[in-house]
Amino acid sequence: MSGAVPLAREVAQLRLQVCTWRAAGESLALVPTMGALHRGHLELVRLAKARCRRAVVSIFVNPTQFAPHEDFERYPRDEAGDLAKLAEVGCDLVWAPDRLEMYPDGFATRIVPGGSAEGLEGEFRPHFFAGVATICCKLFTQVAPDIAVFGEKDYQQLCVVRQMVRDLNLPLDIVELATVREPDGLALSSRNAYLSAEERRTAPLLHRVIADVARGVTQGRGAVVAEGKAALEAAGFKVDYLEVRDAETLLPAVAGSGRRLRVLAAAWLGKTRLIDNVPA
Ligand code: PAF
Repeated sequence: MSGAVPLAREVAQLRLQVCTWRAAGESLALVPTMGALHRGHLELVRLAKARCRRAVVSIFVNPTQFAPHEDFERYPRDEAGDLAKLAEVGCDLVWAPDRLEMYPDGFATRIVPGGSAEGLEGEFRPHFFAGVATICCKLFTQVAPDIAVFGEKDYQQLCVVRQMVRDLNLPLDIVELATVREPDGLALSSRNAYLSAEERRTAPLLHRVIADVARGVTQGRGAVVAEGKAALEAAGFKVDYLEVRDAETLLPAVAGSGRRLRVLAAAWLGKTRLIDNVPA
C-alpha cells in the first residue's frame, strides 16, 4: 500500500521540501511531464528512483510549446488518476503549478535553441523547442535536481535538452530511457488516446516501417526511406518527415561516416500526429 503523494502548487512550497531533502544529504531526480501518465512515464519515475533517493514529478501542460492551432485545450488531463499512479511507483513529490505560477504576468524571457532543434519537429512545429527549452530550464532551476529523466520517444527533445544543459552549464545530468511500447510496437504516448479503433490498428505500422528503414540503412540498401514513406502513405498516413540523422547532432546522416545514426519520423493518422524513432 502506498500513501498519497504530496503536491506542491507554489515555488515556495517546492523549494521548502527540496531544501529539507538537501539538508539531509539526499539526492534528487526530476521527471518532467505534462500529465495523462502512462506506463512509459511510470518507467521514467522508476528509473529516477533507482538513481536518486527522491523523485519529483512535474505535471504541467505547457502552453508555450503549443501553437494556437494545436491541441493545448484538448490535451488529456487527469490529475487524480496521475496522482494515484505516482503513489504506486514511489514518487516523493508532485510539482503541479498553475499557469500563473509558472508564467506570472509580465513573463518575457525565452530560450531559443538552435543546433539539434533545427529541422524535423523544428520545421513542422517552429514554436515547439523554444517552449520546451524555456519550461525545462525553469523546471531545472525550480527543482534543482541532480538528474532529470527523459524518454527517447521524444528523441529530438532529448537532444535539445542535452544541448541546452551543455551550452548553459546547467548543473544536472540528463538521463534517458528507451521508448516503452505496446506489444504491437506502438510507442506509448498520451496522444494515442486520440486514435479511433481503426487508426489504432494501423498505428503500429509507423514503428515497423522505421525499424525496416533502420535495417535497410545498416545493410547499405538504397531507397529505403522512399520505400518507407510510400508504405506509410499507402496505409493512410500523411508523413511530415521520415529521415535518417546523426544520432547526436541530428544533422543529416553522412554515408560511411561511422557515426551512430537514428531514424526519426512524424506522421498523421487522421487528426492524430504520431512521432517515433529507432537507432540504425
Ligand atoms: O515531453 C513532455 O512531456 C514535455 O515536452 C515536457 C518535457 C514535460 C516539457 O513540457
